[in-house]
Amino acid sequence: MKQSELDFINTLRQSSRYIEQHRGKTCVVYLPGELMQAPDTLKQLSQDVGLLHNLGLKIVLVMGATPQINAALEKQNIPWQHQQQFRITTLEILPIFQQTIGIVRSQLEAVFSQATCMQANPLTLISGNWVIAQPIGVINGIDFQYTGKLRKINHTAISGSLDAGQIALLTPLAYSLTGEVFNLNTLEQACEVANAIQADKLMIFANPQQLQDLPKQLSIPELDHIIQDSSDPEQVRFLQQLAKTNHTVKRVHIMEQENPGALLLELFSLDGVGTLIFSDRYHQLRPATIEDVGGILDLISPLEEQGVLVKRSRERLELEIENFILVERDQHIIGCAALYPIAGQTGELACLAVHESYQGQELGTELLKAVEKKALTLGLNRLFLLTTHTHHWFIEHGFGLESVSALPSEKQSLYNLQRLSKVLIKVL
Ligand SMILES: CC(C)(COP(=O)(O)OP(=O)(O)OC[C@H]1O[C@@H](n2cnc3c(N)ncnc32)[C@H](O)[C@@H]1OP(=O)(O)O)[C@@H](O)C(=O)NCCC(=O)NCCS
Repeated sequence: MKQSELDFINTLRQSSRYIEQHRGKTCVVYLPGELMQAPDTLKQLSQDVGLLHNLGLKIVLVMGATPQINAALEKQNIPWQHQQQFRITTLEILPIFQQTIGIVRSQLEAVFSQATCMQANPLTLISGNWVIAQPIGVINGIDFQYTGKLRKINHTAISGSLDAGQIALLTPLAYSLTGEVFNLNTLEQACEVANAIQADKLMIFANPQQLQDLPKQLSIPELDHIIQDSSDPEQVRFLQQLAKTNHTVKRVHIMEQENPGALLLELFSLDGVGTLIFSDRYHQLRPATIEDVGGILDLISPLEEQGVLVKRSRERLELEIENFILVERDQHIIGCAALYPIAGQTGELACLAVHESYQGQELGTELLKAVEKKALTLGLNRLFLLTTHTHHWFIEHGFGLESVSALPSEKQSLYNLQRLSKVLIKVL
């Protein structure tokens, strides 16, 4: 088989797990106006959103139109004013907002209609007066006029549209109970809508300034640290806004707005391409079951080939599976360790491995702690292990170098002189 065919099959296998996982899930996607300036980008995006829809995801799109509004105001030589992060929407410029947002929205609807011919099912974009707005008001003597903020959301109506197989579209315009039109900050709106409908995911396209130096994954405490340490006010505002959603929405994905394909990569590949803010536990430690044998073999085989771990056959693994503890991420085994009670109160730690893409995140340390805890629960008070490559790591984790004679006698007779493994022991 050609390499390209193998790659294709592997990609398909990897993504099928995610297709299953995401089916029926609700996903709010924030599309900044920048993303909708280039027709090609818009076209690709509509096809990708159409694909997500066909794969059973419920999608809410929240579109911005800032660069388009700026261009329209500049064209008419109308200056505008910003205060804090908000643009003051005067009565004079409000019609330009309505007009421009209307144009962007119709362009979006048009590309979705075009994308429909690539899809098995028609893509219906639907929008409505779901968001009730109220004026920001007068702050520090500045009247924000028709710049509004979200007052409440008719989430039942949005969920109803999603259940009917439609893609919900929200624009920066929302209406007050007094019948006035307001211009809203769309990122804020996307976050609030995601909270209100209890979305499973919030997908945010962001600019390089907002994304700068963000790692691939962030827990909520880590996000708080970045907010404290960042010296860029725009990034701070952006992240503070996202931090507010994390109590309801478990996963917020941030992607580069220059790369609309990031939407699919983020959802259907193991590591994604953006930054994931998670409030649920992203990996979990658990005992292994017989179904995990294949995954463990995938993880340890390369290390066996390199001679780092002793070779284990599938049959042996199946027999010994109860000794194993795993680290799992998105149903993918990325770490393992085994504990074998040997004699008296001694146990052997073996087969500790973390997939190389995930090393350095203290998963090895977590696994070791879990093994030690299990050993104590089993009444063991001494752990030993044999290693050819990793003795320093174990010494840093409280093990001491010992001679072969310190091993339990049954293990001494099995000691493989050719491997010349180091013997390490830890008293628990
Ligand atoms: C050893 C191993 C399990 C550690 O997993 P991990 O999740 O990366 O561990 P942690 O994040 O808790 O620790 C990472 C630290 O250990 C260090 N480290 C990794 N392998 C090491 C080794 N062989 N010797 C010394 N230090 C090592 C890393 O450099 C890193 O140090 P730093 O924090 O100063 O940068 C992992 O490197 C691995 O799977 N190695 C191959 C398999 C193996 O050797 N298993 C042991 C045989 S029983």
